Parts: sequence; C-alpha cells; structure tokens
Amino acid sequence: MKYTLNLGAKEFSSDSLVLVSAFEKTIEAKGKTKESKAIVNSHWSKELKTTFENIKTSADFTGSAGSTYTFHLENGTTVFVYGLGEKKSVTFEMLRNHGAKIYKALASNHKEVSIQLDGFTIKSKADESLNAIVEGISLADYKFDRHFKTQTPAKLTEITFDSAAKKTGLKKLQKVLDETLVVTESINVGRNFVNEAPNILRSTTYAKDVLADIKGTKGVKSKVLGRAELKKEKMGLFLSVNDGSGYEPQLVHLTYTPAKVTKNTKHIALVGKGLVFDTGGYSLKPGGSMMNMKFDMAGSSTVYSAFRAVAKLGLDVKVTCILGMTDNAVNEHATMPDSIVKARNGLSVEILNTDAEGRLVLADCLDYASDLKPDAIIDSATLTGAVLVSLGNQVCGIMGNNQKLTDKILKSAKTTDEYMWQLPIIQEFHDDMKSPVADLKNIGGSGFGGSSKAAAFLSNFVKNDIPWAHLDIAGIGDSQGHKAYCPTKGASGLIVRTLVDYLKNA
Ligand code: BES
Ligand code: ZN
Ligand code: ZN
Repeated sequence: MKYTLNLGAKEFSSDSLVLVSAFEKTIEAKGKTKESKAIVNSHWSKELKTTFENIKTSADFTGSAGSTYTFHLENGTTVFVYGLGEKKSVTFEMLRNHGAKIYKALASNHKEVSIQLDGFTIKSKADESLNAIVEGISLADYKFDRHFKTQTPAKLTEITFDSAAKKTGLKKLQKVLDETLVVTESINVGRNFVNEAPNILRSTTYAKDVLADIKGTKGVKSKVLGRAELKKEKMGLFLSVNDGSGYEPQLVHLTYTPAKVTKNTKHIALVGKGLVFDTGGYSLKPGGSMMNMKFDMAGSSTVYSAFRAVAKLGLDVKVTCILGMTDNAVNEHATMPDSIVKARNGLSVEILNTDAEGRLVLADCLDYASDLKPDAIIDSATLTGAVLVSLGNQVCGIMGNNQKLTDKILKSAKTTDEYMWQLPIIQEFHDDMKSPVADLKNIGGSGFGGSSKAAAFLSNFVKNDIPWAHLDIAGIGDSQGHKAYCPTKGASGLIVRTLVDYLKNA
C-alpha cells in the first residue's frame, strides 16, 4: 500500500473515491424527552454539503459510529461518508477500529482512495489521530494467504490523506506516518511467522528467516546458537525440551546498538518463547488442545517485532533480543516426566510435566540474558492456559520482580490501548515450585494460580536482581477479532505496540 500525505489541500487529490467523516449530534427538544439525531459535517466543503443535502435520503443519515453513506458529485466523484458517532466520545482506539473497518469496506472495490484527514482528527491531536487511523488501516491490510493456489490481492493500493493544515506541518506528520508504518509492518512480519505451518517453519527455518529479515538493518548484530553451542553453554533445560525433536534447537541472539551510545543509554533485553509447535511431549496434549499449537511461538514473534521496529526506527536505546526456538515433540529420546535436569545457572529441576516446557526454555534464556547485564529484562510467552482462566482470552498477564518496571509497561499498554493486567507472585507460589528431590519442579502442587507459579519459577533464573517483567500472552496472542484491526483467527500482533512504546521511553 502506498500512503501519501497531502497538506494544504484545497481540493481532493482523487476524483475517484473520496472518504469524509461525519459526527453525530443528539438534539434534545426543549421541555420534552424526545431526542433527535443529526449529522455534524461542519468540516465539509460547500459543494459537498449542498450536494449531500439535495439528496432526500441523506436526511436519514445521522453519522452514528460505523454508519456509511455514499453519494456522487456532479463530476462523477464518489463520496463515501463514514460516521464516527458523537465527537467528544471518540477515542484513539475507536479510530483504530474505524480505520480497519474503512479498509475492509473499500479494499476490494477501489484502487485509490483519498481520505479527508481533518475529519478524522480528534482531541485536536493531529499526530495521534493520524497514527491511530493508519495503524487501523495497515494492521487490517494483512492476510495469510500464501498457501492458496490463487491469491486475490486487495484492489486498494493507494491512500492519500488530504488535509487543509499548513504545508509547514508536513515534516512532522510525515514522520508520524513513516514511523507508524515501520511498527505495523514489523507486526505483520511477526504475524506471518506465527501463522506459518509447523511442517514448514521448523526451528531452523524460523532462525534463518529471522536473520534474513533483519539483515542489513543498521546497528544490528546477530548470531545463532545451535545444539553444540547450547551444550557448551550448559543450557540443560532448553536442551531437555528439544530432546524429543527431530530438529535442532536454535537460540537467536540479536543486538541493536544505536548510533550514539553514552553512559545514559539504556540496555533492555527482550526474551521470547519460540515453540514452533507444542505437542506437550510425553505429557501429550489431547487432540483438541494441541490444535493451533503452532502459535506457541507468539512470544518470540512479539519481542522480535518490537526489536525490529526499534532497530528500523533507529531509537536511542540498546536492545538485545533472545529467541528460544524448538518444538516440543516425542521420540525415543524425549524427556520423560520425573527427569531431573540441570539448568544453565546450576539449579536442578524436576520435570514433572513435559507440557510445562516454555518455562524451561525461558529459564535458560533468562539466565543467558542476565549475563549481558541489561538494565531490564522483559520476556514474552504463550506460557499458561491458566492466564485465560484468570484474565480471559483478551488480556495479557504481567508479572515480575520490580514494581517500577511493571508500572512502566502497564503505562505503555494503556497508552497504546492494549489490555494488560498484573498478577501477583507471592512467597507461597515460590514455595509451591520447590521439589523434594531437586531445587525446583516445573509445575506447582496445584494448578491454581498457574500463571503466577510459572512466573515464580522463572524468577529463579533472573540474576542479580535485574528488574524483570514476564508477559503471558497465551490469551491475547491470537484470535483477537473483537478488534477490527486483528484477524478473527491467527496471530494478533498485540503487545508489540506496548513494547515499542516502552522502549521509546526507556
Ligand atoms: N503452550 C502452553 C500454554 C498454552 C495453553 C498456550 C493454551 C495457549 C493456549 C504451555 O506450554 C502449556 O502447555 N502449559 C501448561 C502448563 C501446565 C502443564 C502446568 C498448561 O497451561 O496447561
Ligand atoms: Zn506446553
Ligand atoms: Zn507451550
């Protein structure tokens, strides 16, 4: 999609399809309870208004949220009116959803559209309004259709935003547009990784594809640790998950260093669970629960997308990205329940359930990340089904060892309109993860509080009190169709915007 900004626009830049907004106004009749609704279109040109008002049926259009009305100008231009509802109640998240709905309404029938931007500016914030509407459009402009014999690409390939604002403001708005597109492109790259089938995207392919995708990005260095290197690193827990696999484990280690580094430059490590498929291992998942477990790598794709965006934006923060990739499968070498395995940090772990594998991969990756002495570590993982029980399937769980860090991330989630809620790690949860035969066990004595107990387990692998936050995205990572800019089925790409916002302000 080609996006263009056209400031100082007197006319519409397209004579094919023009998109304008309308707001709704409730008029209360004096002294009576009766209410009537009317359209607010004060930002329209005189020509638009007159033509619109001369059409009889236009009187029925109130501009309620999501309503549409199409009419034609004398010169043949089609005008598509999109209702945003009451102006004072429109939020940026609503704009995002409206952007997505507008894209879906137009994508298959129109090649180019010019959008009258000023009608989509809310709270007098042109930057944030443009950001939201472009996020909505570009995140809706995604489909995973590469395996169909024939693809039907969207007809819509060009969007121009016309605005009456002074041309001098172009540089600033252009920056907003460009930066928004870097983030949404990174989200869509991450979605593709998750949505790819597990027989095609093995751990080894995933690592190769990530390296190919980031290649050439300024300031980025990369390396991949395979089985031999992980053995050298003594990553016993990570390797134990891979024991039943026909494919090598891969630890992808990416570093982005900004052009200028001073003693004030923060270094943040991101760690992601990259289970390209989770069968459960010997503690095999029942068929129904195993379905869609290709999505068990969404934690890694989330942190990768954020890393990619930060590097491509050239942000002023050093970021390390550690992706732990393997499948969790069963063969004659697969780890058996009751096994006792040594972690990279020397702690022994009794593996009572091979389906609690994500925490094993993450544990060694967190210990590895700790050695780089970052200012903070954030991990993201589809770690527990329990997070869906506690928070529902639309909220990300956050847990950690440092309230300041947690609060900062929660603030970023709020800023970007992503749902996130903190869960506690109490001493009793730490106690429940102790084993009678080893330092730790990989599941709690009861399943209650399963997400927090998994986090309690992970906390043992974060060294030297480094501030650490754990994001459990098992609920929010896929099938978030309640947001118009997310696919009904498949990777959501949510939480990337939270992380980018956090890293911007780190
Ligand atoms: N990948 C799953 C968690 C998961 C479940 C993600 C449902 C998305 C949807 C994880 O590896 C797992 O199987 N966890 C177990 C832990 C249990 C054995 C303590 C779970 O949640 O059932
Ligand atoms: Zn599992
Ligand atoms: Zn898993």
